[in-house]
Amino acid sequence: MAYETIIVEIEDHIALIKLNRPDAMNALNDQLLTELCDALKSAQNNDKVRCIVLTGSEKAFAAGADIKMMSSKSFVDVFTEDLFTPESEQILAVRKPIIAAVSGYALGGGCELAMMCDFIICSDTAKFGQPEINLGVSAGLGGTQRLTRFIGKSKAMDMNLTGRFMEADEAERCGLVSRIVPAKKLIEEAMSAATKIAEKSMITTMAVKEMVNRSYETTLREGLLFERRVFHSLFATEDQKEGMAAFMEKREAQFRDK
Ligand code: HXC
Repeated sequence: MAYETIIVEIEDHIALIKLNRPDAMNALNDQLLTELCDALKSAQNNDKVRCIVLTGSEKAFAAGADIKMMSSKSFVDVFTEDLFTPESEQILAVRKPIIAAVSGYALGGGCELAMMCDFIICSDTAKFGQPEINLGVSAGLGGTQRLTRFIGKSKAMDMNLTGRFMEADEAERCGLVSRIVPAKKLIEEAMSAATKIAEKSMITTMAVKEMVNRSYETTLREGLLFERRVFHSLFATEDQKEGMAAFMEKREAQFRDK
């Protein structure tokens, strides 16, 4: 598929996907979401790719779902086409890790897209928000659910009810992002984190992604049992033998994803 609204670069073992609708602050329209899902699926199926970085521009990661595309739709339209459901399912189905590298605005669906990634590194210029209430609608892709689990009820209510924007330092303080870096270094830092991930065993990496995500879907007791069983099962891999042998032999592990 030839892309018009995203740019994809594969560098070493990292797929860098850049949202690219500069005239619309990277607002998420049908075309962009279709292309994004296609690029993610290709990255998932490309054996060379071991980690994905999703980013936007310096000004905007994404300013939300495309309001111009949605404005004339009726309830029957959005319900019948199940607006945004198939795309979000496809994004969540990616088993390789996805780092969101956020600079500038991450609003509405843009904030929700960042939260669908595995973790968020943001620049000191990042602004997060769920301003849908100003449009007479609500969040619809996790802004009342994931955000609440990530930052707690009080802040999630505040964000969703007032529509205010949250700056990078507050986002880090409340656990929405894992780290803040200078805007000019955002891609470098995200690529460096991705490179570290790419050096690990892919089997373990995918298992860990599944394990952490499971913690949001289950009770603590069930989650802990799932974790322990997956941990046990990783002893069936050659990479476990290699990783532990390398430690004892004081050398770098050479993982073979086996
Ligand atoms: C369509 C958008 C857009 C959006 C910005 N643009 N956000 N177009 N959908 N979400 C367009 C503007 O119309 C404008 O194009 C251009 O991008 C530049 O935006 P400006 O407003 O001129 O820039 P600025 O003054 O710097 O303000 C930036 C901004 C503001 C704060 C990000 O654009 C803004 O508030 N955008 C809307 C944010 C929002 O409400 N997001 C939630 C969307 S609903 P033109 O051609 O007009 O000059 C949503 C629901 C998700 O996400 C639910 C999922 C199920």
